[in-house]
Amino acid sequence: MYLEHFQLKQMPFELAPNPHFYCQLPGHEDALNTILLSLKNGEGFIKITGEVGTGKTLLCKQLLRKLSEDLIPVYMPNPAYTPSEFRHSFAQELGMELPPDIKRHELERELREHLKNLFHSNQSVVLIVDEAQTMPDETLETLRLLTNLKTDYDKNLQIVLFGQQELDRRLRQPKMRQLMQRIVFSYQLPPLTQQETEDYLCHRLITAGYPYGQVFSTKARRMLYQASQGLPRLINILGHKSMMASFGNGEKKVSARSVRQAIQDSIDIVYSIQRPKWPYIVTAICYTAGIMGILQYYHLVKFV
Ligand SMILES: Nc1ncnc2c1ncn2[C@@H]1O[C@H](COP(=O)(O)OP(=O)(O)O)[C@@H](O)[C@H]1O
Ligand SMILES: [Mg+2]
Repeated sequence: MYLEHFQLKQMPFELAPNPHFYCQLPGHEDALNTILLSLKNGEGFIKITGEVGTGKTLLCKQLLRKLSEDLIPVYMPNPAYTPSEFRHSFAQELGMELPPDIKRHELERELREHLKNLFHSNQSVVLIVDEAQTMPDETLETLRLLTNLKTDYDKNLQIVLFGQQELDRRLRQPKMRQLMQRIVFSYQLPPLTQQETEDYLCHRLITAGYPYGQVFSTKARRMLYQASQGLPRLINILGHKSMMASFGNGEKKVSARSVRQAIQDSIDIVYSIQRPKWPYIVTAICYTAGIMGILQYYHLVKFV
């Protein structure tokens, strides 16, 4: 592959969310610092949403690395559970040994008891849920009930939900009102700006061992930003393919031509991004106004 050609020690644009490559982007750092502060204040019922590929899973992993020692993390990357499966899985992750046929009210009592014991040893639990949009409504409601113990130690369980935009839509349903009111902090991960995209590319290249900072030409960087709309996963896909194309073209720096080849090779993914509609609407209005102006100028139509 292109590792040797570009003097890299490892692949710079792998798709797996690897904390080794974590880049301190303003949006991600804002989210992370606010989560950590909320957790420190014990006010944690937090929701982080973002488009597919904005970096939610990587942020989960970064959060797990940053938690203070008095917080016991329970990480649920695949939470599409029924309420009962959820309660069992949560208890299991907490290291509780329970008979598989335990009744619901017994399990809830055991969980309360466990949280109480942790409270007395100055520890508390942070449940971190990734892909929270896949949880059924009833399971989301179970989350609320878990933090609704109405005891001295109910702050002993804090929850951070990470999910796609669909989670917001789900939580806006009238039946989710109570859960929505619980959420003390919400944050939407923004896509990267052009400057952040450039910093991101540079950071990943340097982390992968590239000795010269930036490998993409100015035009190549601009094209990468426009095609990816600042979504890190798409930047990675296009970045990797551009470097492959560039290697094939025998370039030492990645040119706009190589990025164009990468975009053409990923056309389905590039066009799957939800782009803002207003530029098209403004263009349509200007176009229509222009045609009307011409018609009026030649007295083909008359507007009052
Ligand atoms: N701040 C960041 N620093 C480095 N890489 C990032 C950052 N944010 C996202 N990425 C990369 O972008 C890709 C998509 O991130 P991921 O966390 O899987 O997105 P999501 O979970 O939102 O779909 C991954 O390869 C991840 O490593
Ligand atoms: Mg993810």
